[in-house]
Amino acid sequence: MAATQAAQDLVGLFPNGTSLDATGALVLGGVPVAELAETYGTPALIVDEPSIRARARRYADGLAARWPNSRATFASKAFPCTAVYRLLAEEGLGIDVAGGGELTLALAAGADPAGLVVHGNAKTEEELRLAVEAGAGTIVVDNFDDIDKLEAILDATGAEQGVLVRVTPDIRPDTHEAISTGQNGSKFGLLLPQAREAIARLRGSDRLRLDGVHVHVGSQILDLEPFGQAVEAVAELGEFAVYDLGGGLGSRYTYTDHPPTVEAYLDAMTDVAKRLLPTDARILIEPGRSMVAESGVSLYRVVSVKRGGGHTFVAVDGGMGDNLEVSLYQQRFEAAIATRPTGEGELCRLVGRHCESGDTLSAGVRLEDPRVGDLIAVPVTGAYTYALSNNYNGARRPPVVFVRDGEHRAVVRRETYADLMRRDLP
Ligand code: LLP
Repeated sequence: MAATQAAQDLVGLFPNGTSLDATGALVLGGVPVAELAETYGTPALIVDEPSIRARARRYADGLAARWPNSRATFASKAFPCTAVYRLLAEEGLGIDVAGGGELTLALAAGADPAGLVVHGNAKTEEELRLAVEAGAGTIVVDNFDDIDKLEAILDATGAEQGVLVRVTPDIRPDTHEAISTGQNGSKFGLLLPQAREAIARLRGSDRLRLDGVHVHVGSQILDLEPFGQAVEAVAELGEFAVYDLGGGLGSRYTYTDHPPTVEAYLDAMTDVAKRLLPTDARILIEPGRSMVAESGVSLYRVVSVKRGGGHTFVAVDGGMGDNLEVSLYQQRFEAAIATRPTGEGELCRLVGRHCESGDTLSAGVRLEDPRVGDLIAVPVTGAYTYALSNNYNGARRPPVVFVRDGEHRAVVRRETYADLMRRDLP
Protein backbone atom coordinates (compact mmCIF):
# COMPACT_ATOMS: atom_id res chain seq x y z
CA MET A 1 0.00 0.00 0.00
CA ALA A 2 1.28 3.50 -0.83
CA ALA A 3 1.93 5.50 2.32
CA THR A 4 0.58 9.06 2.42
CA GLN A 5 2.90 12.01 2.86
CA ALA A 6 1.83 12.31 6.52
CA ALA A 7 2.68 8.66 7.12
CA GLN A 8 6.04 9.03 5.37
CA ASP A 9 6.88 12.10 7.47
CA LEU A 10 5.98 10.20 10.61
CA VAL A 11 7.97 7.09 9.71
CA GLY A 12 10.88 9.41 8.86
CA LEU A 13 11.25 10.20 12.56
CA PHE A 14 11.86 6.52 13.36
CA PRO A 15 15.33 4.92 13.17
CA ASN A 16 16.83 4.25 9.75
CA GLY A 17 16.08 0.55 9.87
CA THR A 18 12.31 1.17 10.16
CA SER A 19 9.82 0.03 7.53
CA LEU A 20 6.12 -0.79 7.20
CA ASP A 21 4.82 -4.32 6.63
CA ALA A 22 2.04 -5.36 4.24
CA THR A 23 -0.62 -4.36 6.79
CA GLY A 24 0.97 -0.92 7.26
CA ALA A 25 2.38 -1.73 10.73
CA LEU A 26 5.82 -0.53 11.87
CA VAL A 27 8.76 -2.89 11.57
CA LEU A 28 11.73 -1.86 13.71
CA GLY A 29 15.13 -3.20 12.70
CA GLY A 30 13.37 -5.90 10.71
CA VAL A 31 11.15 -6.94 13.64
CA PRO A 32 7.37 -6.31 13.60
CA VAL A 33 6.27 -4.12 16.51
CA ALA A 34 3.57 -6.60 17.53
CA GLU A 35 6.24 -9.28 17.99
CA LEU A 36 8.33 -6.95 20.15
CA ALA A 37 5.35 -6.01 22.32
CA GLU A 38 4.33 -9.63 22.68
CA THR A 39 7.83 -10.81 23.57
CA TYR A 40 8.84 -8.04 25.99
CA GLY A 41 5.55 -6.44 27.06
CA THR A 42 5.04 -2.70 27.34
CA PRO A 43 6.31 -0.17 28.06
CA ALA A 44 9.57 -1.10 26.37
CA LEU A 45 12.46 0.85 24.90
CA ILE A 46 13.45 -0.54 21.52
CA VAL A 47 16.88 0.44 20.19
CA ASP A 48 18.01 0.07 16.60
CA GLU A 49 21.58 -1.04 17.15
CA PRO A 50 22.87 -0.25 13.62
CA SER A 51 21.64 3.34 14.02
CA ILE A 52 23.88 3.91 17.03
CA ARG A 53 26.83 2.27 15.31
CA ALA A 54 26.31 4.34 12.18
CA ARG A 55 26.13 7.53 14.21
CA ALA A 56 29.26 6.61 16.17
CA ARG A 57 31.18 6.04 12.92
CA ARG A 58 29.92 9.26 11.44
CA TYR A 59 31.20 11.13 14.47
CA ALA A 60 34.52 9.31 14.70
CA ASP A 61 35.30 9.41 10.97
CA GLY A 62 33.97 12.93 10.51
CA LEU A 63 36.08 14.30 13.32
CA ALA A 64 39.21 12.41 12.24
CA ALA A 65 38.82 13.71 8.67
CA ARG A 66 38.70 17.30 9.92
CA TRP A 67 41.19 17.04 12.78
CA PRO A 68 43.29 13.85 12.76
CA ASN A 69 44.59 14.20 16.33
CA SER A 70 41.18 13.76 17.89
CA ARG A 71 38.76 11.41 19.55
CA ALA A 72 35.00 11.20 19.70
CA THR A 73 33.83 10.34 23.19
CA PHE A 74 30.31 9.25 24.17
CA ALA A 75 28.61 11.23 26.94
CA SER A 76 27.27 8.12 28.58
CA LYS A 77 24.77 9.92 30.80
CA ALA A 78 22.51 9.90 27.75
CA PHE A 79 22.19 6.10 27.86
CA PRO A 80 24.11 4.44 30.69
CA CYS A 81 23.61 0.70 30.29
CA THR A 82 26.48 -1.71 29.76
CA ALA A 83 25.26 -2.87 26.34
CA VAL A 84 25.47 0.70 25.05
CA TYR A 85 28.90 1.28 26.65
CA ARG A 86 30.12 -1.94 25.05
CA LEU A 87 28.77 -1.03 21.66
CA LEU A 88 30.42 2.39 21.63
CA ALA A 89 33.67 1.08 23.06
CA GLU A 90 33.64 -1.47 20.22
CA GLU A 91 33.25 1.38 17.76
CA GLY A 92 36.42 2.89 19.20
CA LEU A 93 34.91 5.81 21.07
CA GLY A 94 36.12 7.15 24.39
CA ILE A 95 33.58 7.30 27.22
CA ASP A 96 32.59 10.31 29.27
CA VAL A 97 31.28 9.41 32.72
CA ALA A 98 29.69 11.63 35.33
CA GLY A 99 30.40 10.15 38.72
CA GLY A 100 31.20 6.79 40.25
CA GLY A 101 28.12 4.96 38.97
CA GLU A 102 28.72 5.61 35.29
CA LEU A 103 32.43 4.93 35.86
CA THR A 104 31.59 1.54 37.33
CA LEU A 105 29.26 0.71 34.45
CA ALA A 106 31.85 1.74 31.86
CA LEU A 107 34.53 -0.41 33.48
CA ALA A 108 32.11 -3.35 33.79
CA ALA A 109 31.45 -3.03 30.04
CA GLY A 110 35.18 -3.30 29.35
CA ALA A 111 35.84 0.31 28.33
CA ASP A 112 39.53 1.22 28.21
CA PRO A 113 40.18 3.34 31.35
CA ALA A 114 42.66 5.51 29.42
CA GLY A 115 39.78 6.74 27.25
CA LEU A 116 37.54 7.70 30.19
CA VAL A 117 36.74 11.36 30.80
CA VAL A 118 35.41 11.87 34.31
CA HIS A 119 32.96 14.71 34.92
CA GLY A 120 30.87 16.13 37.70
CA ASN A 121 30.37 19.43 39.51
CA ALA A 122 30.24 17.63 42.86
CA LYS A 123 32.66 14.74 42.71
CA THR A 124 33.14 13.18 46.10
CA GLU A 125 36.53 12.07 47.36
CA GLU A 126 35.34 8.48 47.01
CA GLU A 127 34.48 9.04 43.34
CA LEU A 128 37.77 10.77 42.59
CA ARG A 129 39.67 7.96 44.29
CA LEU A 130 37.73 5.42 42.24
CA ALA A 131 38.64 7.29 39.04
CA VAL A 132 42.33 7.61 39.94
CA GLU A 133 42.58 3.96 40.98
CA ALA A 134 40.80 2.81 37.82
CA GLY A 135 43.40 4.65 35.75
CA ALA A 136 40.90 7.06 34.18
CA GLY A 137 42.83 8.96 31.53
CA THR A 138 41.21 12.33 32.14
CA ILE A 139 39.49 13.95 35.08
CA VAL A 140 37.74 17.23 34.37
CA VAL A 141 38.29 19.72 37.18
CA ASP A 142 35.07 21.68 37.76
CA ASN A 143 36.11 23.66 40.85
CA PHE A 144 39.02 24.29 43.20
CA ASP A 145 37.80 21.60 45.61
CA ASP A 146 38.39 18.99 42.90
CA ILE A 147 42.03 20.14 42.81
CA ASP A 148 42.40 19.95 46.61
CA LYS A 149 40.87 16.49 46.78
CA LEU A 150 42.90 15.14 43.86
CA GLU A 151 46.15 16.47 45.28
CA ALA A 152 45.46 14.77 48.60
CA ILE A 153 44.61 11.47 46.88
CA LEU A 154 47.69 11.59 44.62
CA ASP A 155 50.04 12.63 47.41
CA ALA A 156 49.11 9.41 49.16
CA THR A 157 49.52 7.19 46.08
CA GLY A 158 52.39 8.99 44.38
CA ALA A 159 50.65 8.72 41.01
CA GLU A 160 50.22 11.35 38.30
CA GLN A 161 46.83 12.27 36.87
CA GLY A 162 45.85 14.04 33.66
CA VAL A 163 43.24 16.77 34.10
CA LEU A 164 41.30 19.33 32.09
CA VAL A 165 39.77 22.52 33.47
CA ARG A 166 36.06 22.98 32.73
CA VAL A 167 35.49 26.49 31.48
CA THR A 168 32.18 28.38 31.56
CA PRO A 169 32.58 30.84 28.69
CA ASP A 170 29.42 32.86 29.39
CA ILE A 171 27.65 31.76 26.23
CA ARG A 172 23.89 31.33 26.37
CA PRO A 173 22.70 28.96 23.63
CA ASP A 174 19.09 29.02 22.50
CA THR A 175 17.86 25.95 24.38
CA HIS A 176 15.75 25.21 27.45
CA GLU A 177 17.11 26.93 30.56
CA ALA A 178 17.43 23.60 32.39
CA ILE A 179 19.88 22.27 29.81
CA SER A 180 21.93 25.41 29.20
CA THR A 181 25.30 25.21 30.92
CA GLY A 182 27.57 27.78 29.28
CA GLN A 183 26.29 30.98 30.88
CA ASN A 184 27.42 33.01 33.87
CA GLY A 185 25.21 31.62 36.64
CA SER A 186 25.62 27.99 35.56
CA LYS A 187 26.64 25.69 38.38
CA PHE A 188 29.09 23.98 36.03
CA GLY A 189 32.72 24.91 35.51
CA LEU A 190 34.72 28.05 36.12
CA LEU A 191 34.26 31.47 34.52
CA LEU A 192 37.27 32.69 32.53
CA PRO A 193 39.03 34.58 35.39
CA GLN A 194 38.65 31.61 37.79
CA ALA A 195 39.61 29.19 35.04
CA ARG A 196 42.85 31.15 34.55
CA GLU A 197 43.52 30.88 38.27
CA ALA A 198 42.90 27.11 38.23
CA ILE A 199 45.19 26.75 35.20
CA ALA A 200 47.98 28.63 36.98
CA ARG A 201 47.56 26.50 40.06
CA LEU A 202 47.57 23.25 38.08
CA ARG A 203 50.69 24.31 36.18
CA GLY A 204 52.46 24.39 39.55
CA SER A 205 51.13 21.02 40.69
CA ASP A 206 53.50 18.05 41.07
CA ARG A 207 50.96 15.31 40.63
CA LEU A 208 48.28 16.87 38.47
CA ARG A 209 49.21 17.14 34.82
CA LEU A 210 47.25 19.91 33.14
CA ASP A 211 46.42 18.54 29.70
CA GLY A 212 44.04 21.28 28.69
CA VAL A 213 40.57 22.72 28.91
CA HIS A 214 36.97 21.56 28.53
CA VAL A 215 33.83 23.39 27.49
CA HIS A 216 30.20 22.26 27.16
CA VAL A 217 27.61 24.96 26.71
CA GLY A 218 24.32 23.03 26.77
CA SER A 219 22.17 20.34 25.22
CA GLN A 220 19.60 20.08 22.38
CA ILE A 221 21.25 23.02 20.62
CA LEU A 222 19.79 23.50 17.15
CA ASP A 223 21.99 26.30 15.78
CA LEU A 224 25.72 26.18 15.18
CA GLU A 225 26.81 29.55 16.48
CA PRO A 226 27.38 28.61 20.15
CA PHE A 227 29.72 25.76 19.18
CA GLY A 228 32.09 28.08 17.31
CA GLN A 229 31.85 30.66 20.09
CA ALA A 230 32.83 28.02 22.65
CA VAL A 231 35.99 27.23 20.68
CA GLU A 232 36.81 30.96 20.51
CA ALA A 233 36.40 31.21 24.28
CA VAL A 234 38.73 28.32 25.11
CA ALA A 235 41.28 29.56 22.57
CA GLU A 236 41.53 32.76 24.60
CA LEU A 237 42.87 30.79 27.55
CA GLY A 238 46.08 29.92 25.73
CA GLU A 239 47.73 26.90 24.15
CA PHE A 240 47.17 23.42 25.53
CA ALA A 241 47.71 19.82 24.46
CA VAL A 242 43.99 18.94 24.70
CA TYR A 243 40.72 20.78 24.01
CA ASP A 244 37.55 18.92 24.94
CA LEU A 245 34.71 20.70 23.16
CA GLY A 246 31.83 18.87 24.87
CA GLY A 247 28.55 17.79 23.30
CA GLY A 248 25.19 19.44 22.81
CA LEU A 249 24.08 18.94 19.20
CA GLY A 250 20.28 18.72 19.11
CA SER A 251 18.23 15.85 17.73
CA ARG A 252 15.18 15.85 15.49
CA TYR A 253 12.26 15.09 17.79
CA THR A 254 9.43 16.53 15.72
CA TYR A 255 8.67 17.50 12.13
CA THR A 256 9.58 21.09 12.87
CA ASP A 257 13.04 20.39 14.35
CA HIS A 258 15.84 20.81 11.84
CA PRO A 259 19.11 20.16 13.67
CA PRO A 260 22.39 20.70 11.83
CA THR A 261 24.01 17.55 10.49
CA VAL A 262 26.87 15.93 12.37
CA GLU A 263 29.17 17.14 9.59
CA ALA A 264 27.99 20.75 9.84
CA TYR A 265 28.42 20.61 13.60
CA LEU A 266 31.98 19.27 13.25
CA ASP A 267 32.74 21.94 10.65
CA ALA A 268 31.47 24.68 12.97
CA MET A 269 33.98 23.67 15.61
CA THR A 270 36.95 22.63 13.53
CA ASP A 271 36.73 25.70 11.27
CA VAL A 272 37.31 27.89 14.31
CA ALA A 273 39.85 25.42 15.71
CA LYS A 274 41.88 25.62 12.49
CA ARG A 275 42.09 29.38 12.93
CA LEU A 276 42.67 29.60 16.66
CA LEU A 277 43.97 26.36 18.22
CA PRO A 278 47.51 24.98 18.01
CA THR A 279 47.69 22.64 15.02
CA ASP A 280 49.19 19.80 17.09
CA ALA A 281 46.54 19.96 19.81
CA ARG A 282 44.23 17.02 20.44
CA ILE A 283 40.49 17.64 20.15
CA LEU A 284 37.88 15.63 22.03
CA ILE A 285 34.14 15.90 21.60
CA GLU A 286 31.43 14.43 23.85
CA PRO A 287 28.11 13.96 22.07
CA GLY A 288 25.45 12.21 24.12
CA ARG A 289 21.93 12.89 22.91
CA SER A 290 22.76 13.08 19.21
CA MET A 291 24.59 9.74 19.42
CA VAL A 292 21.60 7.76 20.66
CA ALA A 293 18.31 9.72 20.61
CA GLU A 294 17.20 8.81 17.11
CA SER A 295 17.94 5.10 17.61
CA GLY A 296 15.27 4.66 20.30
CA VAL A 297 11.52 3.99 20.11
CA SER A 298 9.30 3.65 23.17
CA LEU A 299 6.42 1.20 22.89
CA TYR A 300 3.32 1.58 25.04
CA ARG A 301 -0.14 0.05 25.20
CA VAL A 302 -3.24 2.28 25.27
CA VAL A 303 -5.05 1.76 28.58
CA SER A 304 -7.84 4.31 28.27
CA VAL A 305 -9.32 6.76 25.77
CA LYS A 306 -11.30 9.56 27.39
CA ARG A 307 -13.14 12.35 25.59
CA GLY A 308 -14.67 15.49 27.05
CA GLY A 309 -14.38 19.25 27.22
CA GLY A 310 -12.95 19.35 23.74
CA HIS A 311 -10.07 17.01 24.60
CA THR A 312 -9.20 13.44 23.79
CA PHE A 313 -6.88 11.86 26.34
CA VAL A 314 -5.12 8.74 25.20
CA ALA A 315 -3.56 7.23 28.33
CA VAL A 316 -0.81 4.64 28.09
CA ASP A 317 0.89 2.22 30.48
CA GLY A 318 4.05 4.34 30.89
CA GLY A 319 4.91 8.02 31.01
CA MET A 320 7.16 10.07 33.25
CA GLY A 321 8.47 6.90 34.89
CA ASP A 322 10.25 6.03 31.66
CA ASN A 323 10.44 9.44 29.96
CA LEU A 324 11.06 12.52 32.09
CA GLU A 325 12.08 14.74 29.17
CA VAL A 326 8.65 16.28 28.80
CA SER A 327 8.30 17.08 32.50
CA LEU A 328 11.81 18.45 32.86
CA TYR A 329 12.41 20.25 29.55
CA GLN A 330 9.02 20.39 27.80
CA GLN A 331 10.55 18.26 25.09
CA ARG A 332 8.04 17.64 22.27
CA PHE A 333 7.56 14.14 20.92
CA GLU A 334 5.53 12.81 18.02
CA ALA A 335 3.76 9.46 18.35
CA ALA A 336 1.98 6.85 16.26
CA ILE A 337 -0.36 3.95 16.61
CA ALA A 338 2.30 1.38 15.83
CA THR A 339 0.07 -0.84 13.70
CA ARG A 340 -1.35 2.07 11.66
CA PRO A 341 1.06 5.02 11.72
CA THR A 342 -0.84 7.35 9.43
CA GLY A 343 0.13 10.72 10.93
CA GLU A 344 -3.55 11.63 10.53
CA GLY A 345 -6.72 11.37 12.60
CA GLU A 346 -7.97 12.90 15.81
CA LEU A 347 -5.85 15.45 17.67
CA CYS A 348 -5.10 13.71 20.96
CA ARG A 349 -3.23 14.35 24.14
CA LEU A 350 -1.00 11.35 24.80
CA VAL A 351 -0.68 11.04 28.56
CA GLY A 352 0.99 8.68 30.98
CA ARG A 353 -0.25 6.69 33.97
CA HIS A 354 1.37 8.74 36.71
CA CYS A 355 -0.23 10.99 39.32
CA GLU A 356 0.95 14.30 37.83
CA SER A 357 -0.86 16.57 35.39
CA GLY A 358 2.48 17.18 33.73
CA ASP A 359 2.77 13.48 32.93
CA THR A 360 2.25 13.98 29.22
CA LEU A 361 4.14 12.26 26.41
CA SER A 362 2.76 14.47 23.69
CA ALA A 363 0.46 17.47 24.12
CA GLY A 364 -0.95 17.25 20.60
CA VAL A 365 -0.58 14.29 18.29
CA ARG A 366 -2.81 12.93 15.51
CA LEU A 367 -3.92 9.34 16.09
CA GLU A 368 -6.19 7.33 13.82
CA ASP A 369 -9.17 6.08 15.84
CA PRO A 370 -7.25 5.27 19.05
CA ARG A 371 -8.62 2.32 21.03
CA VAL A 372 -7.78 0.54 24.27
CA GLY A 373 -5.16 -2.10 23.55
CA ASP A 374 -3.58 -0.23 20.64
CA LEU A 375 0.19 -0.17 20.56
CA ILE A 376 1.70 3.32 20.63
CA ALA A 377 5.21 4.03 19.35
CA VAL A 378 7.04 7.20 20.36
CA PRO A 379 10.17 7.82 18.28
CA VAL A 380 13.44 9.57 19.23
CA THR A 381 13.50 8.27 22.80
CA GLY A 382 17.03 6.84 22.85
CA ALA A 383 18.57 9.66 24.91
CA TYR A 384 18.02 10.54 28.58
CA THR A 385 14.97 8.27 28.92
CA TYR A 386 16.47 5.08 30.30
CA ALA A 387 18.94 7.31 32.16
CA LEU A 388 16.21 9.21 33.99
CA SER A 389 13.73 6.38 34.38
CA ASN A 390 12.35 6.00 37.87
CA ASN A 391 9.90 4.14 40.07
CA TYR A 392 7.30 6.86 40.59
CA ASN A 393 3.95 5.31 41.51
CA GLY A 394 5.75 2.00 41.84
CA ALA A 395 6.43 1.84 38.11
CA ARG A 396 8.76 -0.95 37.07
CA ARG A 397 11.42 0.45 34.79
CA PRO A 398 11.05 -0.91 31.25
CA PRO A 399 13.35 -3.28 29.41
CA VAL A 400 15.81 -2.15 26.74
CA VAL A 401 15.65 -4.28 23.61
CA PHE A 402 18.20 -4.12 20.80
CA VAL A 403 16.98 -4.89 17.27
CA ARG A 404 19.05 -5.51 14.16
CA ASP A 405 18.63 -7.46 10.92
CA GLY A 406 15.33 -8.98 12.00
CA GLU A 407 16.66 -10.15 15.36
CA HIS A 408 15.94 -8.86 18.83
CA ARG A 409 17.50 -9.29 22.28
CA ALA A 410 16.85 -7.72 25.66
CA VAL A 411 19.94 -5.99 27.05
CA VAL A 412 18.15 -4.76 30.18
CA ARG A 413 15.19 -6.70 31.58
CA ARG A 414 12.03 -5.14 32.97
CA GLU A 415 12.04 -4.51 36.70
CA THR A 416 9.83 -6.76 38.78
CA TYR A 417 7.79 -6.00 41.88
CA ALA A 418 10.44 -7.99 43.78
CA ASP A 419 13.07 -5.55 42.44
CA LEU A 420 11.00 -2.69 43.82
CA MET A 421 11.16 -4.20 47.30
CA ARG A 422 14.77 -5.34 47.20
CA ARG A 423 16.19 -2.35 49.07
CA ASP A 424 13.40 -2.04 51.61
CA LEU A 425 14.51 -3.44 54.94
CA PRO A 426 12.08 -5.38 57.11
N1 LLP B 1 29.46 16.75 28.20
C1 LLP B 1 29.02 17.24 29.37
C2 LLP B 1 29.98 17.74 30.34
C3 LLP B 1 27.64 17.26 29.65
O1 LLP B 1 27.22 17.74 30.80
C4 LLP B 1 26.74 16.75 28.69
C5 LLP B 1 25.30 16.74 28.96
C6 LLP B 1 27.25 16.24 27.50
C7 LLP B 1 28.61 16.27 27.27
C8 LLP B 1 26.38 15.67 26.42
O2 LLP B 1 25.49 16.58 25.92
P1 LLP B 1 24.48 16.15 24.76
O3 LLP B 1 25.28 15.86 23.54
O4 LLP B 1 23.75 14.95 25.24
O5 LLP B 1 23.58 17.30 24.60
N2 LLP B 1 18.90 15.27 31.02
C9 LLP B 1 18.76 16.26 29.97
C10 LLP B 1 20.03 16.53 29.28
C11 LLP B 1 21.08 16.96 30.21
C12 LLP B 1 22.40 17.11 29.51
C13 LLP B 1 23.47 17.05 30.51
N3 LLP B 1 24.80 17.17 30.02
C14 LLP B 1 17.66 15.85 29.05
O6 LLP B 1 17.00 14.87 29.31
O7 LLP B 1 17.42 16.52 28.06
